[in-house]
Amino acid sequence: MSQVHNPKHDPAGYRVVPNTSRELNQDRVKELLAKEWELFQKSTKLSGKENVRASKSLPMGVTSSFQHWDPYPISVASAKGAYVKDVDGRKLLDLSMGFGAMMVGHLHPGVVRAVKRALNSVGTLFVTPSPTATIAAEAFKKRFNLDMIRFTNSGTESLMYAIRTARATNGKKAIIKLEGGYHGGYDPLQVSVKPKLENIGDGNAPTPDIPPEVEAGEVFVVPYNNLEYLEKIMSENSHKISAFVLEPVMENISIVLPDEGYLHAVRALCDKYDICLIFDEVKTGLTAGEAGAAGRTGVEPDLITLAKSIGGGLPVAAFGGKQKYMDAVVDGRMAHYGTYNGNPLVMAAVMAVEKLVTPKAMQKAEQINVNTLNKINAIIEEYELPAHTIGLGLKGAITWSKTPVRNYRDFKNVDFGIAELSWLWGINRGIITPPGLDEQWLVSLMHTQKDMDKMVEHFRELAKALRA
Ligand SMILES: Cc1ncc(COP(=O)(O)O)c(C=O)c1O
Repeated sequence: MSQVHNPKHDPAGYRVVPNTSRELNQDRVKELLAKEWELFQKSTKLSGKENVRASKSLPMGVTSSFQHWDPYPISVASAKGAYVKDVDGRKLLDLSMGFGAMMVGHLHPGVVRAVKRALNSVGTLFVTPSPTATIAAEAFKKRFNLDMIRFTNSGTESLMYAIRTARATNGKKAIIKLEGGYHGGYDPLQVSVKPKLENIGDGNAPTPDIPPEVEAGEVFVVPYNNLEYLEKIMSENSHKISAFVLEPVMENISIVLPDEGYLHAVRALCDKYDICLIFDEVKTGLTAGEAGAAGRTGVEPDLITLAKSIGGGLPVAAFGGKQKYMDAVVDGRMAHYGTYNGNPLVMAAVMAVEKLVTPKAMQKAEQINVNTLNKINAIIEEYELPAHTIGLGLKGAITWSKTPVRNYRDFKNVDFGIAELSWLWGINRGIITPPGLDEQWLVSLMHTQKDMDKMVEHFRELAKALRA
């Protein structure tokens, strides 16, 4: 058996790749998958009905296209702590947690109390300055080591304004993004999100894939963990490249870790070519650690975008960073607007989350995550599965590949048949992980080891069934 090539990754992350594995019987995978889809349709009849009804008013029957899967997604009636209840009355362990937005848990009493207080005696919207926003901004400046910050309502908005801030500062327009990287709905960031391989040419010098409905401007696309090509693009085009936008740890194609030294080298290249380094921490953020992935990896971006985990499930996001860039907002070169920005209701939730994200609470959740990953590894090893595990902070994932995934092209080699079975196996046994086989689980502050062990045991049952 040949040794698996497992290059060193940034020590901020967790990755265990077994040295040996055996192929899966693909007929067996197909057979199990067919049975699981049958079981799904039997046990989720009301979700199916709900989707038929919803589809008459909401395109695809959902409020964001990500929420859809074929034949229909689970429709949820309520949620509390680490669990959701679906319209069929099933209680499901929620490992998706709103793509990580529910990091403190559903209806955490601390968040509920703070929001109720705002509703009872503060207000929902002033559209004037208020200490409620100043206090939250001060807390974030300290936590994420920022000079200044502005609140927005979504990750998409934060990315849009961060890019405009960079442009207003350095007077350049083009951007660089990662192949396979997702950053929400702003036009330039629609390029090469999850492109088809036949459209994108050479893996070491990717062709940008621009959807026809998008007005992208000039966008350079680079592979993750490839410094050589990044420097080539920067050195040839630095006169027109304003910003490099990336998730420091890619979390929209499972979890893909930076190679050791990658982010530090990216920082140095951005300095060398006067390009604004924007870390999109919409997904990493607090789930990566108390000071985000930037704090964890020790690499300081020029601008950062935050959303999801910072707001306890309320719609709040932010962008901020170094004075040199935020000065463009201060002096009006980059106008940032928004009726609902930093309203007292979401600021109350932000401050409640701030109080909950203590070193002790974060260490406890991270330890549960590491224990879970270790237990999954033992099963992968025992059954010699062609899979490995990755983790960052409170998030973890199983990737069905014998070799580490270091970029989008590697990710496309994942066995998506077994990934689908593994996901559906969980759904049918009361565990909901995100739709789209490219996400990860989250251990919220309300998940216990006992909760996570349910997933581990179901995974063991799947391994047994696969090898039966
Ligand atoms: C990395 C990343 N950036 C930006 C966004 C967009 O955030 P929002 O959905 O709040 O607009 C997302 C959403 O999933 C994301 O994963």
